[in-house]
Amino acid sequence: MDSDKYQIDLSDLASIQALLDQKAARSFLFQGSRDRYFVKRNRPTKTPTVPFLVKGFLGFFGLGYLAPSLNYGGKDSFQYEIDTLRRFKDLGISVPRLMFRGDNYIVLEALDGENVDILMGDGRNRLSVWVAAASEIMSLHQHKLCLSQGFARNIMLVDGRVFFIDFEENPLENMDLAKAQARDWIYFLLSSTWQFDSMDQVLLHWRSLIAVESPSVRNHLTQIAQRMNWLRFLPKKRKPWGRDIMQLQAIGRFLFQWEYANKPET
Ligand SMILES: Nc1ncnc2c1ncn2[C@@H]1O[C@H](COP(=O)(O)OP(=O)(O)O)[C@@H](O)[C@H]1O
Ligand SMILES: [Mg+2]
Repeated sequence: MDSDKYQIDLSDLASIQALLDQKAARSFLFQGSRDRYFVKRNRPTKTPTVPFLVKGFLGFFGLGYLAPSLNYGGKDSFQYEIDTLRRFKDLGISVPRLMFRGDNYIVLEALDGENVDILMGDGRNRLSVWVAAASEIMSLHQHKLCLSQGFARNIMLVDGRVFFIDFEENPLENMDLAKAQARDWIYFLLSSTWQFDSMDQVLLHWRSLIAVESPSVRNHLTQIAQRMNWLRFLPKKRKPWGRDIMQLQAIGRFLFQWEYANKPET
């Protein structure tokens, strides 16, 4: 292994390895002698049942590619995450630095910030957090790249700077780049718009952002908006329906308002 490329003390590494033997958690933060690290174990391959249902449901609307991959985890996902972290870093895209690669775990630089899901829940700078994350997704797309699962919890903010994390799924195995980029937006919108009571402000920013997106991504998004805006008729209240329904209702409302305003006047 090309260990000279890594910058981690051997004693820190030994402590991390001991912790991996003791702990059951999939990931944890570790304070080393100088720096803090985020340790993440390889996820075993799994075929979850929920995405299976979601895939069937979306397939019904001709949008099956929007479902999370049915098959990820295991060796290929582990390698894809490592390759993506390196490639993005080389391209100047903010991702945590890979500090060490073990057989079935990686050690990353710990980001001294919080994920966008939590930051938006906090409420104070909800719109500016959203705009920061969305702008960074846009510039990633301009590099002809896509995320794995662009949910708000997989985007972090550190002193106002956006970092992308969690690259276990390679969407390009199942779809072309334009679809993968449209899917990035849908995952981000699904996991973020439910935090806004009114979509007016966020739609203003969305319109100027999406104007720079490639025409094929915009076409996919328009098609999704046309097919899925009925989701706005779902119940809006969190209780007793839960967060999933609330998220679907919010993205339906968002897509409806966007699409409706896009329609040429007759
Ligand atoms: N490098 C990091 N530094 C600090 N926290 C992190 C880092 N990477 C991830 N996290 C936190 O841990 C959570 C889970 O990490 P993630 O890589 O998304 O793994 P999973 O595959 O379990 O979703 C993230 O939502 C984020 O809050
Ligand atoms: Mg994650």
